[in-house]
Amino acid sequence: MKSQKVFAVIKPNLENLNRNLKSMVGARHPVLSAASKHLFSAGGKRIRPAIVILVAKASMNGQNLKASHERLAEITEIIHTASLVHDDVIDECTTRRGVKTVHNAFSTKIAVLAGDFLFAQSSWYLANLNNLKVVKTISKVITDFAEGEIRQGLVNFDASVSINEYIEKSFYKTASLIAASCKGAAMLSDLGLSEQDEYYLYGKHLGLGFQIVDDILDITGSTQDLGKPSGSDLKNGNLTAPIFFAIIECPELQILIDDEFGSEEDISRAIYLIKKTHGIQKAKDLAEEHIQTAINIFSTLKSKNDSYYHHLLLISNYVLERIS
Ligand code: IPE
Ligand code: IPE
Ligand code: MG
Ligand code: MG
Repeated sequence: MKSQKVFAVIKPNLENLNRNLKSMVGARHPVLSAASKHLFSAGGKRIRPAIVILVAKASMNGQNLKASHERLAEITEIIHTASLVHDDVIDECTTRRGVKTVHNAFSTKIAVLAGDFLFAQSSWYLANLNNLKVVKTISKVITDFAEGEIRQGLVNFDASVSINEYIEKSFYKTASLIAASCKGAAMLSDLGLSEQDEYYLYGKHLGLGFQIVDDILDITGSTQDLGKPSGSDLKNGNLTAPIFFAIIECPELQILIDDEFGSEEDISRAIYLIKKTHGIQKAKDLAEEHIQTAINIFSTLKSKNDSYYHHLLLISNYVLERIS
Protein backbone atom coordinates (compact mmCIF):
# COMPACT_ATOMS: atom_id res chain seq x y z
CA MET A 1 0.00 0.00 0.00
CA LYS A 2 1.44 3.35 -1.00
CA SER A 3 1.52 5.79 1.88
CA GLN A 4 -0.84 8.35 0.39
CA LYS A 5 -3.52 5.64 0.13
CA VAL A 6 -3.92 6.10 3.86
CA PHE A 7 -6.06 9.13 2.97
CA ALA A 8 -8.42 6.74 1.13
CA VAL A 9 -8.86 4.70 4.33
CA ILE A 10 -10.35 7.73 6.08
CA LYS A 11 -12.10 9.22 3.02
CA PRO A 12 -15.58 9.37 4.61
CA ASN A 13 -14.15 11.20 7.63
CA LEU A 14 -12.35 13.71 5.42
CA GLU A 15 -15.43 14.28 3.24
CA ASN A 16 -17.42 14.99 6.36
CA LEU A 17 -14.67 17.33 7.55
CA ASN A 18 -14.69 19.31 4.30
CA ARG A 19 -18.46 19.74 4.52
CA ASN A 20 -18.30 20.84 8.15
CA LEU A 21 -15.41 23.25 7.67
CA LYS A 22 -17.44 25.36 5.30
CA SER A 23 -20.43 25.57 7.60
CA MET A 24 -18.30 26.16 10.71
CA VAL A 25 -16.79 29.39 9.40
CA GLY A 26 -20.12 31.02 8.54
CA ALA A 27 -19.44 34.61 9.63
CA ARG A 28 -21.60 37.58 10.39
CA HIS A 29 -19.69 39.54 7.83
CA PRO A 30 -19.86 38.17 4.28
CA VAL A 31 -16.36 39.40 3.39
CA LEU A 32 -14.75 37.45 6.25
CA SER A 33 -16.76 34.40 5.42
CA ALA A 34 -15.79 34.66 1.73
CA ALA A 35 -12.12 35.14 2.65
CA SER A 36 -12.10 32.09 4.90
CA LYS A 37 -14.11 29.83 2.64
CA HIS A 38 -11.86 30.75 -0.25
CA LEU A 39 -8.98 28.84 1.34
CA PHE A 40 -11.01 25.87 2.57
CA SER A 41 -12.50 25.41 -0.90
CA ALA A 42 -9.02 25.42 -2.43
CA GLY A 43 -8.30 22.16 -0.60
CA GLY A 44 -4.97 21.64 1.05
CA LYS A 45 -3.55 18.25 1.93
CA ARG A 46 -5.57 17.93 5.16
CA ILE A 47 -2.65 16.13 6.76
CA ARG A 48 -3.38 17.47 10.26
CA PRO A 49 -7.00 16.29 10.44
CA ALA A 50 -5.90 12.99 8.85
CA ILE A 51 -3.37 12.53 11.68
CA VAL A 52 -6.00 13.37 14.32
CA ILE A 53 -8.45 10.86 12.85
CA LEU A 54 -5.80 8.14 12.60
CA VAL A 55 -4.65 8.73 16.20
CA ALA A 56 -8.30 8.67 17.26
CA LYS A 57 -8.86 5.35 15.48
CA ALA A 58 -5.67 3.84 16.90
CA SER A 59 -6.42 5.00 20.42
CA MET A 60 -10.06 3.81 20.31
CA ASN A 61 -8.78 0.41 19.26
CA GLY A 62 -11.50 -0.42 16.77
CA GLN A 63 -14.40 1.26 18.52
CA ASN A 64 -16.27 4.05 16.73
CA LEU A 65 -14.82 7.55 16.83
CA LYS A 66 -16.49 10.05 19.13
CA ALA A 67 -18.09 13.19 17.67
CA SER A 68 -15.50 15.16 19.65
CA HIS A 69 -12.65 13.44 17.74
CA GLU A 70 -14.11 14.64 14.45
CA ARG A 71 -14.62 18.11 15.89
CA LEU A 72 -11.01 18.21 17.07
CA ALA A 73 -9.85 17.33 13.55
CA GLU A 74 -11.90 20.26 12.22
CA ILE A 75 -10.59 22.65 14.89
CA THR A 76 -7.02 21.63 14.04
CA GLU A 77 -7.52 22.43 10.35
CA ILE A 78 -9.14 25.78 11.18
CA ILE A 79 -6.21 26.77 13.44
CA HIS A 80 -3.77 25.68 10.73
CA THR A 81 -5.60 27.67 8.05
CA ALA A 82 -5.74 30.76 10.29
CA SER A 83 -1.98 30.50 10.79
CA LEU A 84 -1.48 30.28 7.02
CA VAL A 85 -3.57 33.40 6.38
CA HIS A 86 -1.37 35.36 8.81
CA ASP A 87 1.84 33.65 7.66
CA ASP A 88 1.12 34.68 4.07
CA VAL A 89 0.82 38.33 5.13
CA ILE A 90 4.16 38.09 6.97
CA ASP A 91 5.87 36.26 4.05
CA GLU A 92 4.17 38.46 1.43
CA CYS A 93 3.14 35.25 -0.31
CA THR A 94 0.85 35.68 -3.33
CA THR A 95 -0.57 32.18 -3.84
CA ARG A 96 -1.58 29.38 -1.53
CA ARG A 97 -3.21 26.02 -2.30
CA GLY A 98 -3.05 27.06 -5.95
CA VAL A 99 -5.24 30.14 -5.48
CA LYS A 100 -4.61 33.74 -4.51
CA THR A 101 -3.80 34.30 -0.83
CA VAL A 102 -6.43 36.17 1.19
CA HIS A 103 -4.40 39.39 1.40
CA ASN A 104 -3.75 39.23 -2.34
CA ALA A 105 -7.38 38.54 -3.29
CA PHE A 106 -8.87 40.96 -0.71
CA SER A 107 -6.49 43.15 1.30
CA THR A 108 -4.03 42.91 4.18
CA LYS A 109 -6.63 44.29 6.59
CA ILE A 110 -9.12 41.62 5.56
CA ALA A 111 -6.43 38.91 5.85
CA VAL A 112 -5.50 39.99 9.39
CA LEU A 113 -9.16 40.04 10.38
CA ALA A 114 -9.94 36.77 8.59
CA GLY A 115 -7.03 35.05 10.38
CA ASP A 116 -8.19 36.45 13.74
CA PHE A 117 -11.71 35.40 12.92
CA LEU A 118 -10.61 31.81 12.20
CA PHE A 119 -8.57 31.68 15.43
CA ALA A 120 -11.62 32.96 17.33
CA GLN A 121 -13.92 30.42 15.67
CA SER A 122 -11.52 27.61 16.51
CA SER A 123 -11.45 28.76 20.17
CA TRP A 124 -15.24 28.76 20.26
CA TYR A 125 -15.52 25.21 18.93
CA LEU A 126 -12.67 24.15 21.23
CA ALA A 127 -14.47 25.52 24.29
CA ASN A 128 -17.60 23.69 23.18
CA LEU A 129 -15.82 20.35 23.42
CA ASN A 130 -16.41 20.85 27.17
CA ASN A 131 -13.12 19.23 28.05
CA LEU A 132 -10.87 21.61 29.98
CA LYS A 133 -7.74 19.48 29.58
CA VAL A 134 -8.11 19.43 25.81
CA VAL A 135 -8.79 23.19 25.80
CA LYS A 136 -5.58 23.81 27.79
CA THR A 137 -3.53 21.61 25.48
CA ILE A 138 -4.79 23.04 22.19
CA SER A 139 -5.07 26.70 23.14
CA LYS A 140 -1.33 26.86 23.89
CA VAL A 141 -0.68 26.18 20.21
CA ILE A 142 -1.89 29.61 19.11
CA THR A 143 0.68 31.28 21.39
CA ASP A 144 3.34 28.89 20.11
CA PHE A 145 2.55 29.82 16.53
CA ALA A 146 3.15 33.52 17.30
CA GLU A 147 6.33 32.61 19.17
CA GLY A 148 7.60 30.67 16.14
CA GLU A 149 6.87 33.47 13.69
CA ILE A 150 8.56 36.03 15.96
CA ARG A 151 11.65 33.86 16.45
CA GLN A 152 11.85 33.39 12.68
CA GLY A 153 11.37 37.10 11.94
CA LEU A 154 14.16 38.10 14.32
CA VAL A 155 16.84 36.10 12.52
CA ASN A 156 16.22 36.89 8.85
CA PHE A 157 19.39 36.49 6.75
CA ASP A 158 21.28 35.36 9.87
CA ALA A 159 23.37 32.28 9.05
CA SER A 160 24.79 32.04 12.57
CA VAL A 161 21.54 30.44 13.79
CA SER A 162 22.22 26.90 15.01
CA ILE A 163 20.35 23.82 13.79
CA ASN A 164 19.01 23.49 17.33
CA GLU A 165 17.54 26.97 17.23
CA TYR A 166 16.06 26.21 13.80
CA ILE A 167 14.44 23.04 15.19
CA GLU A 168 13.11 24.91 18.23
CA LYS A 169 11.56 27.58 16.02
CA SER A 170 10.05 24.83 13.83
CA PHE A 171 8.55 23.26 16.93
CA TYR A 172 6.75 26.49 17.83
CA LYS A 173 5.71 27.27 14.26
CA THR A 174 4.53 23.84 13.13
CA ALA A 175 5.13 20.83 15.37
CA SER A 176 3.31 22.21 18.41
CA LEU A 177 -0.07 22.06 16.63
CA ILE A 178 0.45 18.50 15.38
CA ALA A 179 1.75 17.35 18.79
CA ALA A 180 -1.08 18.96 20.73
CA SER A 181 -3.77 17.66 18.41
CA CYS A 182 -2.40 14.10 18.67
CA LYS A 183 -2.43 14.43 22.46
CA GLY A 184 -5.91 15.95 22.33
CA ALA A 185 -7.20 12.97 20.33
CA ALA A 186 -5.64 10.59 22.87
CA MET A 187 -7.26 12.56 25.72
CA LEU A 188 -10.65 12.32 24.07
CA SER A 189 -10.13 8.54 23.85
CA ASP A 190 -9.56 8.54 27.64
CA LEU A 191 -6.03 7.13 27.39
CA GLY A 192 -3.74 7.34 30.43
CA LEU A 193 -1.33 10.23 30.95
CA SER A 194 1.80 8.42 29.79
CA GLU A 195 0.13 7.34 26.54
CA GLN A 196 -1.12 10.89 25.99
CA ASP A 197 2.46 12.08 26.33
CA GLU A 198 3.70 9.45 23.89
CA TYR A 199 1.19 10.64 21.32
CA TYR A 200 2.34 14.22 21.94
CA LEU A 201 5.93 13.21 21.20
CA TYR A 202 4.84 11.23 18.16
CA GLY A 203 3.11 14.35 16.77
CA LYS A 204 6.03 16.58 17.70
CA HIS A 205 8.59 14.57 15.74
CA LEU A 206 6.20 14.03 12.85
CA GLY A 207 5.62 17.80 12.78
CA LEU A 208 9.34 18.58 12.83
CA GLY A 209 9.93 16.15 9.99
CA PHE A 210 7.04 17.71 8.09
CA GLN A 211 8.46 21.25 8.43
CA ILE A 212 11.95 20.17 7.34
CA VAL A 213 10.40 18.51 4.27
CA ASP A 214 8.43 21.71 3.55
CA ASP A 215 11.71 23.65 3.82
CA ILE A 216 13.41 21.27 1.37
CA LEU A 217 10.50 21.54 -1.07
CA ASP A 218 10.75 25.34 -0.97
CA ILE A 219 14.16 24.86 -2.63
CA THR A 220 13.60 21.77 -4.78
CA GLY A 221 9.88 21.98 -5.63
CA SER A 222 8.00 23.89 -8.30
CA THR A 223 5.44 26.60 -7.67
CA GLN A 224 2.99 24.54 -9.74
CA ASP A 225 3.36 21.40 -7.57
CA LEU A 226 3.47 23.27 -4.28
CA GLY A 227 0.50 25.56 -4.98
CA LYS A 228 2.61 28.33 -3.37
CA PRO A 229 5.69 30.13 -4.69
CA SER A 230 8.91 28.12 -4.41
CA GLY A 231 12.11 29.86 -3.29
CA SER A 232 10.10 32.12 -1.01
CA ASP A 233 12.05 31.20 2.14
CA LEU A 234 15.32 32.44 0.60
CA LYS A 235 13.67 35.58 -0.69
CA ASN A 236 12.41 36.37 2.81
CA GLY A 237 15.72 35.56 4.47
CA ASN A 238 14.19 32.54 6.19
CA LEU A 239 17.25 30.31 6.31
CA THR A 240 16.40 26.63 6.69
CA ALA A 241 18.11 23.24 7.07
CA PRO A 242 19.31 22.79 3.44
CA ILE A 243 21.16 26.14 3.40
CA PHE A 244 22.55 25.73 6.92
CA PHE A 245 24.13 22.44 5.83
CA ALA A 246 25.15 23.76 2.39
CA ILE A 247 26.96 26.82 3.71
CA ILE A 248 29.55 24.63 5.44
CA GLU A 249 30.62 23.30 2.02
CA CYS A 250 30.08 26.48 0.00
CA PRO A 251 31.25 29.84 1.45
CA GLU A 252 29.87 31.73 -1.59
CA LEU A 253 26.42 31.22 -0.07
CA GLN A 254 27.43 33.42 2.86
CA ILE A 255 28.17 36.29 0.46
CA LEU A 256 24.75 35.93 -1.17
CA ILE A 257 23.09 35.87 2.27
CA ASP A 258 25.03 38.96 3.38
CA ASP A 259 23.73 40.71 0.25
CA GLU A 260 20.22 39.56 1.24
CA PHE A 261 19.81 37.87 -2.16
CA GLY A 262 19.61 41.21 -3.95
CA SER A 263 18.06 39.86 -7.16
CA GLU A 264 16.16 36.93 -8.67
CA GLU A 265 19.50 35.80 -10.15
CA ASP A 266 20.99 35.66 -6.63
CA ILE A 267 18.15 33.40 -5.51
CA SER A 268 18.60 31.11 -8.55
CA ARG A 269 22.35 31.07 -7.90
CA ALA A 270 21.81 30.19 -4.22
CA ILE A 271 19.45 27.34 -5.16
CA TYR A 272 21.97 26.10 -7.73
CA LEU A 273 24.77 26.19 -5.13
CA ILE A 274 22.70 24.47 -2.44
CA LYS A 275 21.84 21.67 -4.89
CA LYS A 276 25.56 21.20 -5.68
CA THR A 277 26.37 20.50 -2.02
CA HIS A 278 25.11 17.76 0.30
CA GLY A 279 22.75 20.30 1.90
CA ILE A 280 19.54 18.76 0.58
CA GLN A 281 20.64 15.22 1.47
CA LYS A 282 21.65 16.24 4.99
CA ALA A 283 18.32 18.02 5.48
CA LYS A 284 16.55 14.85 4.24
CA ASP A 285 18.55 12.81 6.75
CA LEU A 286 17.46 15.17 9.52
CA ALA A 287 13.80 14.89 8.47
CA GLU A 288 14.15 11.12 8.34
CA GLU A 289 15.61 11.06 11.86
CA HIS A 290 12.56 12.85 13.20
CA ILE A 291 10.13 10.63 11.30
CA GLN A 292 11.98 7.56 12.57
CA THR A 293 11.81 8.87 16.13
CA ALA A 294 8.06 9.37 15.70
CA ILE A 295 7.67 5.81 14.39
CA ASN A 296 9.75 4.41 17.26
CA ILE A 297 7.54 6.18 19.77
CA PHE A 298 4.29 4.76 18.53
CA SER A 299 5.72 1.32 17.97
CA THR A 300 6.34 1.14 21.72
CA LEU A 301 2.71 2.08 22.29
CA LYS A 302 1.27 -1.14 20.95
CA SER A 303 1.75 -4.14 18.71
CA LYS A 304 2.99 -3.10 15.27
CA ASN A 305 0.62 -5.61 13.66
CA ASP A 306 -2.46 -3.70 14.63
CA SER A 307 -3.94 -2.18 11.45
CA TYR A 308 -4.62 1.20 13.06
CA TYR A 309 -0.98 1.51 14.01
CA HIS A 310 -0.06 0.48 10.51
CA HIS A 311 -1.93 3.57 9.27
CA LEU A 312 0.06 5.81 11.60
CA LEU A 313 3.19 4.28 10.12
CA LEU A 314 1.91 5.02 6.60
CA ILE A 315 1.11 8.66 7.32
CA SER A 316 4.59 9.05 8.83
CA ASN A 317 6.13 7.63 5.65
CA TYR A 318 3.91 9.86 3.51
CA VAL A 319 5.71 12.91 4.93
CA LEU A 320 9.05 11.59 3.63
CA GLU A 321 7.66 10.41 0.30
CA ARG A 322 6.90 14.02 -0.59
CA ILE A 323 10.62 14.46 -1.25
CA SER A 324 11.50 11.02 -2.61
C1 IPE B 1 2.07 24.42 5.17
O1 IPE B 1 1.34 23.34 5.61
C2 IPE B 1 2.69 25.12 6.32
C3 IPE B 1 3.65 24.31 7.07
C4 IPE B 1 3.56 24.17 8.33
C5 IPE B 1 4.75 23.67 6.42
P1 IPE B 1 0.73 22.27 4.60
O2 IPE B 1 1.78 21.84 3.64
O3 IPE B 1 0.06 21.20 5.39
O4 IPE B 1 -0.37 23.15 3.83
P2 IPE B 1 -1.78 22.70 3.22
O5 IPE B 1 -2.73 22.63 4.36
O6 IPE B 1 -1.60 21.37 2.53
O7 IPE B 1 -2.13 23.81 2.27
C1 IPE C 1 4.76 27.33 8.29
O1 IPE C 1 5.93 27.69 7.74
C2 IPE C 1 4.15 28.49 9.00
C3 IPE C 1 2.92 28.15 9.67
C4 IPE C 1 2.86 27.38 10.71
C5 IPE C 1 1.72 28.79 9.17
P1 IPE C 1 6.14 28.17 6.27
O2 IPE C 1 6.22 29.66 6.20
O3 IPE C 1 7.30 27.39 5.76
O4 IPE C 1 4.83 27.69 5.52
P2 IPE C 1 4.63 27.89 3.98
O5 IPE C 1 5.85 27.35 3.31
O6 IPE C 1 4.42 29.35 3.75
O7 IPE C 1 3.42 27.05 3.68
MG1 MG D 1 5.15 30.98 4.72
MG1 MG E 1 7.56 26.75 3.85
